[in-house]
Amino acid sequence: MKTAVLISGTGSNLQALIQRWQAGGSAYDLKLVVSNKKGVPGLLRAQEANLPTAVIEHLAYPDRDHFDQAMDACLEKHQIELIALAGFMRLLTPWFVKKWSGRMINIHPSLLPAFQGLHTHKKALEYGVRYSGCSVIFVDDGVDSGAIIDQAVVEVLPDDDEARLAKRILAQEHIIFPQALDDVARGKVRLTQGRALRTG
Ligand code: GRF
Repeated sequence: MKTAVLISGTGSNLQALIQRWQAGGSAYDLKLVVSNKKGVPGLLRAQEANLPTAVIEHLAYPDRDHFDQAMDACLEKHQIELIALAGFMRLLTPWFVKKWSGRMINIHPSLLPAFQGLHTHKKALEYGVRYSGCSVIFVDDGVDSGAIIDQAVVEVLPDDDEARLAKRILAQEHIIFPQALDDVARGKVRLTQGRALRTG
């Protein structure tokens, strides 16, 4: 399935998607990387993998709607069928989310529905949870509220700070995100009546 990855920064999850794709046999076929920020490390990773890139800067558009229209036009131009949000730090408009419903997934660094939004590791440490982790979801029009495709659990250790916890969770993101994208591309997981239904 022709797949685009949307990023805003480092792109370590993009790298994990690239590695699995380059190894061969994945059902997702990377065709495009879009960043809403220029000069971010993720763009370099894409270029090193010879992937087409597009920079669509949200600041160049009068509002979210116009920005999403520009992204959608770019995705259509590349005949994209599936979208992976990999550290993409923009909220999307309801029409865009609806259009790509069931075909757009996101990786979030907490065990949803706990700690939606930003600063997840800080929130997890402040709350005092013993376990945190990461979740892959189908994107819906809420903030990190979509149907859960997969999750990985990470133990919170007594001497953890945000950086240490983030590092161990990120390592799990790099495992479950490529797997979930492959499962969706293969049709093994489908968004059905608001739930991620597994058939394979
Ligand atoms: C990850 O922690 C991801 O869960 C969150 O943003 C971060 C992106 O990291 N959505 P990277 O750019 O993939 O390294």
